[in-house]
Amino acid sequence: MLEKDIERILVDHKKIVEVSKKLGNQITNDYHDKKPLIIGLLNGCLPFLAELMKHIDLYCEYEVMSVKSYHGGTKSVGNVKIVKDLDVSVEGRHVIIAEDIVDTGRTINVVKDLLTYRGAASVEVATLLDKPEGRIEAFVPKYIGVTIPKVFVVGFGLDYDDYYRNLPYVGVLKESVYKNDIS
Ligand code: IMP
Repeated sequence: MLEKDIERILVDHKKIVEVSKKLGNQITNDYHDKKPLIIGLLNGCLPFLAELMKHIDLYCEYEVMSVKSYHGGTKSVGNVKIVKDLDVSVEGRHVIIAEDIVDTGRTINVVKDLLTYRGAASVEVATLLDKPEGRIEAFVPKYIGVTIPKVFVVGFGLDYDDYYRNLPYVGVLKESVYKNDIS
């Protein structure tokens, strides 16, 4: 049913598992003497967070927080709002933020600054997708799964109007689905 709205598959499921494994191995190596705290940004992070965690062979915990930067449309708006905060302290912790995609860079900069301000020992970012052509604020994630062009994608956590998150792959949404979107 959902597939009819997808113009083309950009990152298939096999590739997602492959890159999650690669990033998980890198994190395992880089943090071999630490117990990192992985913080997922809801709602988009969930499938990637779950896949990534399977490939991290460390004593680590994960927590989630919810940050909103999109409001149902296909374009980012300027302000970033914390909808659900963390239940734990990050003071002295080595934090890795797990994101579905870094686009303008606004969300990740706000969250990174906040966690640094709260006393995290270090804050790095692992993102399934990176869309560098969309940047408005400079930001280079340390762990990048796949770099994609400036197209609007859905699936594997990424949504349009809260739909399509359950697709097992990342695909380009047909323009006809959102052409009447005025946001
Ligand atoms: P940024 O603040 O512009 O970097 O946006 C990050 C957030 O915007 C992501 O966590 C997504 O929720 C959303 N986003 C950015 N690009 C896309 C896209 O192509 N599809 C769906 N959501 C996106």
